[in-house]
Amino acid sequence: MMFAGIFHPPQRGCRAGDPGRRLVRTYKGLMIVIDDSDSARTNEDAVVVSPINRVRGELHMPGDKSISHRAAMLSALAAGESNLKNFSSARDCVATLECLQSLGVRIVKNDARVVIEGSGSSGLQQPTHSLDARNSGTTMRLLAGILAGQSFAATITGDDSLRARPMLRVAEPLRLMGAQVEVAANGCAPLRIKGRRPLQPIRYQLPIASAQIKSAVLLAGLAADGVTTVEEPAQTRDHTERILPQFGARLTRNGNAHSIQGGLPLHSCNIFVPGDISSAAYFIAAAVALPDSDLFIRDVGLNPTRTAFLSTLRAMGANISVADERLEDGEPAGTIHVRGRALKETVKLDVSDALVSSLIDELPLLAFVAANIGCEMKLSNAKELRVKESDRIAATVENLSRMGAHIEERLDGWRLYRGSRLHGAHLSSFSDHRIAMACAVAALVATGTSEIEGARDSVSVSLPEFWTLLESVSE
Ligand code: S3P
Repeated sequence: MMFAGIFHPPQRGCRAGDPGRRLVRTYKGLMIVIDDSDSARTNEDAVVVSPINRVRGELHMPGDKSISHRAAMLSALAAGESNLKNFSSARDCVATLECLQSLGVRIVKNDARVVIEGSGSSGLQQPTHSLDARNSGTTMRLLAGILAGQSFAATITGDDSLRARPMLRVAEPLRLMGAQVEVAANGCAPLRIKGRRPLQPIRYQLPIASAQIKSAVLLAGLAADGVTTVEEPAQTRDHTERILPQFGARLTRNGNAHSIQGGLPLHSCNIFVPGDISSAAYFIAAAVALPDSDLFIRDVGLNPTRTAFLSTLRAMGANISVADERLEDGEPAGTIHVRGRALKETVKLDVSDALVSSLIDELPLLAFVAANIGCEMKLSNAKELRVKESDRIAATVENLSRMGAHIEERLDGWRLYRGSRLHGAHLSSFSDHRIAMACAVAALVATGTSEIEGARDSVSVSLPEFWTLLESVSE
């Protein structure tokens, strides 16, 4: 089998002319190489990454994954045609669209434009087969909230990774609202949900900070006969609270408690989805770590519940500015400009509690950036990372150790010691898109070549364009 690799500049022992390697094209000085050597044959989804000098240019990110899921689901529940622009290209969001189609929703997708013909909050139809959320926790948990308020039964399942993630956390509040929710013996998917209409409104205190569970309860609350309140222990991303009123839902907030009025009809809506800041984070990290970089990312989401990565990098000395700030259908968006400069190796990052929630998807990447500049990072209260698409605590510690960092694994986080320097190594994506992209960034700024197992395709879960975009700004 073969794999595509990024080589810049061609490394000793890793040249395009080597036996078994064949140069297929060049792009801005990078060479994309198809490797059909024996080792590659056993490792068909690996990517080889060599260091680059800087990142320069301008990028537009595909639409935010979290917002795209929500926009599609609410469009399906609204009466009439909704138009979604800059819809995410993530495979996770394709899973959401396919599940909605299996529920009888008419959807036309033309690249990033999606037109959804909703038939009202009770217009979904019983699916003829199990719904497949693939790798997407957001699809499974948010859809569970919607299915709880339907008057039919449905099963929702997913791939091996998703079927190993905890689902009792979503089953419990939905059962309190009157839905029958069965989970497998280990508390995971498949979920069998027999909905009830109307549901019982509840006041629910989330035991863990989770935007997915908060959203599932709010979506179920749409079908309750009264006001449903969900209170979170720490602020998590608030896309559901921002988008629901765009479709006509009535929502109020009191501190970290969010209340929704059930029983109101939703109307269709046109939504522009800003670029995904969690995808942008990988390019921002590369620009921050390579001092000669200059990178613009346009039309990207700047929701304050998602920008802690920028403020943390600024605290490490990064030069990141924001311009053209505006509100796009309830969501802040704008341009991020990163100018590379030397970062402060003396910084000590101490991440715990509320900061964990606001950095949840960027924590592995942050550790790679911190290790690259040789600063200290202590992460605690982050057990949630163990139940993401992979065990991201173990995956981060394993990969950084292989690259030469001095890092120790803790039950609820890690301890990265000062003075690490990263060298190329054999890395593993653990079939997790965010680990694959974090490893790629680390490999671009480390010394020597790295090979990342399982990285070529896994990025498609959130950003199928990752390798192409990376190439386009690498010098
Ligand atoms: C998401 C919420 C987060 C995040 C996930 C997407 C969402 O999970 O990790 O990638 O779209 O609501 P939590 O439910 O742990 O907050």
